[in-house]
Amino acid sequence: MTLEFTCSELTKEFDSRHSSVRAVAAVNLEVRRFEFLCLIGPSGCGKTTLLRLIAGLIQPTSGSISFHTTSTPEKLRAAMVFQQHGLFPWLTVLQNAAFSLEAQGKSRTVAEAEAARFLDKLGLSDFHDNYPHEISGGMSQRVAIARAILADPQILLMDEPFGSLDAQTRLVLIDELLHIWQQHRKTIVYITHDIEEALMLADRIVILSGRPGRVLESIPINVPRPRGKLIHSDPSLFACYQNIWGLIEGDVRRDLHLTEEAG
Ligand SMILES: Nc1ncnc2c1ncn2[C@@H]1O[C@H](COP(=O)(O)OP(=O)(O)OP(=O)(O)O)[C@@H](O)[C@H]1O
Ligand SMILES: [Mg+2]
Repeated sequence: MTLEFTCSELTKEFDSRHSSVRAVAAVNLEVRRFEFLCLIGPSGCGKTTLLRLIAGLIQPTSGSISFHTTSTPEKLRAAMVFQQHGLFPWLTVLQNAAFSLEAQGKSRTVAEAEAARFLDKLGLSDFHDNYPHEISGGMSQRVAIARAILADPQILLMDEPFGSLDAQTRLVLIDELLHIWQQHRKTIVYITHDIEEALMLADRIVILSGRPGRVLESIPINVPRPRGKLIHSDPSLFACYQNIWGLIEGDVRRDLHLTEEAG
């Protein structure tokens, strides 16, 4: 088993003039190369913060992340697909997707040709020249995924990429993402609120506690994919579902100011 990276006692506090918020607390996590890891945790528990730490966008208050990589220095370590507003609004769909390739030093013509081919695979052939505000939410997320994949990072960090989409669009994009992951061999860390989504995607699901986020449990999912139709019929998937719900229900209710008895 090759490891991609290890988080050791990773902690992040945000200080403002009046207060300090501990967003992530002493997270220990080992992620394998080519693993599809899903992170689940209640709102505000520090999931996005953890992803930004892994991406190197922010620095930890204490603890560390070590990357066990042998890749060339010019290879992008990690690309992030954000929760929302991931595209450059002043660039067209094609220019957004080609951006990563130009950043790798390819000429505009080559970058746009390659980006166009990839967008076409994602069903976006008619929308190359549209601006982000002219396409649907599902299309925007597909462009954001295209841009991240074309950047060819070793690690793909996805922050609730389908969170704002309707259930049907989400199912189709989940299939597409699994296909891309199998073709392009990436290590993926994927945040979601949705237990079923995690069960469809993950090699392993890590459950975070309410703020500050700590690792509560790490659950391997060994059922072959596709799993979409099996979530409620496969006994081992259903047991995982119940296990995960049991771990997060209290936090979810606390967020809604409901007690477990009242529910
Ligand atoms: N740049 C920042 N400055 C100050 N506080 C921050 C900052 N970023 C996040 N926080 C705080 O850290 C905590 C965790 O935030 P984070 O966005 O990581 O949660 P999350 O688990 O991604 O939530 P959600 O599920 O709602 O997306 C929150 O209390 C948030 O207000
Ligand atoms: Mg978040």
